[in-house]
Amino acid sequence: MCGIVGFTGKQNAAPILLEGLKKLEYRGYDSAGIAVENSGVITLSKVSGRIANLCEKTDNGNNIPGYSGIGHTRWATHGAPTDANAHPHMSCDGRFSVVHNGIIENYMALREELHAKGYAFKSETDTEVIVHLVEMYYSGDFREAVMKAVSRLEGSYALGVLCSECPGKIIVAREASPLILGIGVGENYFSSDVTALVAHTRNVLYLDDGEFAELTSESITVYDCTGAAIQKPINRITWSVEAAEKGGYEHFMLKEIMEQPRAVKAALAARMQENQIVLDGFDLSAKQLSRIRKIVITACGSAYYAGCAAKYTIEKLCKIPVDVQLASELRYADPQIDRRTLLIVLSQSGETADTIAAMKECKRRGAQTLAIVNVVGSTIAKLADHTLYTWAGPEIAVATTKGYTTQLSVLYLFCVSAAKTMGYLSDEDYQTLVDHLRELPKKIQQALDMCAAIPQLAAKYHSNHSMFFIGRNTDYAVALEGALKMKEISYIHAEAYAAGELKHGTIALIDEGQPVIALCCNRDVAEKTMNNIVEVKARGAQVLALSLSGNRAISAHADDIIHIPPVDPLFQAAVEIVPLQMLAYYVAKENGCDIDKPKNLAKSVTVE
Ligand code: F6R
Repeated sequence: MCGIVGFTGKQNAAPILLEGLKKLEYRGYDSAGIAVENSGVITLSKVSGRIANLCEKTDNGNNIPGYSGIGHTRWATHGAPTDANAHPHMSCDGRFSVVHNGIIENYMALREELHAKGYAFKSETDTEVIVHLVEMYYSGDFREAVMKAVSRLEGSYALGVLCSECPGKIIVAREASPLILGIGVGENYFSSDVTALVAHTRNVLYLDDGEFAELTSESITVYDCTGAAIQKPINRITWSVEAAEKGGYEHFMLKEIMEQPRAVKAALAARMQENQIVLDGFDLSAKQLSRIRKIVITACGSAYYAGCAAKYTIEKLCKIPVDVQLASELRYADPQIDRRTLLIVLSQSGETADTIAAMKECKRRGAQTLAIVNVVGSTIAKLADHTLYTWAGPEIAVATTKGYTTQLSVLYLFCVSAAKTMGYLSDEDYQTLVDHLRELPKKIQQALDMCAAIPQLAAKYHSNHSMFFIGRNTDYAVALEGALKMKEISYIHAEAYAAGELKHGTIALIDEGQPVIALCCNRDVAEKTMNNIVEVKARGAQVLALSLSGNRAISAHADDIIHIPPVDPLFQAAVEIVPLQMLAYYVAKENGCDIDKPKNLAKSVTVE
């Protein structure tokens, strides 16, 4: 996720762009840049680090005069957060400049094509192909060049393009990334979201997928994908600036929960090319994979629980034993790890101190390392032999949500790909699994749509002092994460238990009214868990069950039921967690907790 802004009018653009970028900084903050057109010349300024660095470099925009411009604040995906990779990107001839939010999935093929035609690349980004395409297609008609360039792109984009030969004009385009146009008086704007606009105007147009627009100081013309001019309704923004930053949601956590279909799509789609999984940072051959005797997954907190859930899928598909270890334990253990161990390190931030220490210890013992990390260029990403980024965009809420589901998604990609490489999957089975993976974003969206009753359920369950989360197999792994979510944001003691273990002690704690959240989604073991529901019900528990839609039997046992859509059991955890995130969120809200900043917790734990 990145933020883009644009302005064209009769005032100096740069200070307005910088103010807008500050408002979008929550969307990404590892580098930033602006490009301003002045009397037919485009001047570029970009720098790694926060927007404050760009303000300093440009004297708050005062040393870049010009009345139209585009700006970008970056959250690195393709290429480290360096000055060269920061946007805007310029064409070789200096006539065009582009800012982009999204991911161009076919950028490698386009890059090769453009390179062969003599276009010189200055960055490692996917975005740079766009500006070279515009230059290649330009023959005097700016809009036509952008439309032709865009017709070559696969993936998601919100774009703003400047052309030195068209002073005061900006072309924007959108596909699967947000883009809003702000209507001023004698000036017009665009932005990734309304936060950057509300200081200037509350009248906006929302572009839809496949649409383009041409902005000048006096007009905005919107075009459909065929190039025909269309009319769009003008909307009035009523949100406060604070609400706008959170996309209109009350908390970043809720916004990030809702973003999961898009985040998981970003993690998956670019790595699925023509029905094949292509892992950018991981290229072990069948021979190398067959030498691996065991996989150790290490991480902390939710990332550790993502590993717990993925263990089942990896063992089933890759037939390699998987040992999931808490990094804080592994670092002081005497682990049986050697050159034949693949260590998978999971971390949203890439900076968790215990995870780094465990990783270093395992590397010292000869393990091969694969990092699955969100923050590009972070310590863990740099330490690893292979890195796969989760491309979830910045996560602001302390409690991770999209961090967890995107880690799982990348782990699923890894194991389907590795199982195929090792010869454990027929072409047909491989194709079925790839198709199921491709459906994950849609399934997550369906799970979100099925959460309508959760606020009422939260109102019913919020005043309890403790909750049990039970399940078996993958349901148990999800229960661990569900209980952590509940604990950390609602401050209710929540304990996850393997349902089959209840009889070995914990059932002694089940009394009249004790809430038990029973996860019954895994078809292979759901019936067994239903027996455990009967046992706790007999002792007076109130049972809130989570089950697949269509499971009628459960209604005879549970007091309340939340459904999720049917999903391939191998990939179910990434969908099943969604209602539990929502439950924790609404329980915390009922209890008046500081949801985005729970007490005693920090987003990145860089000390032991
Ligand atoms: C829980 C949570 C933490 C993190 C853990 C690891 O919601 O966010 O448990 O998962 O601190 O952090 P990363 O993934 O940054 O290594």
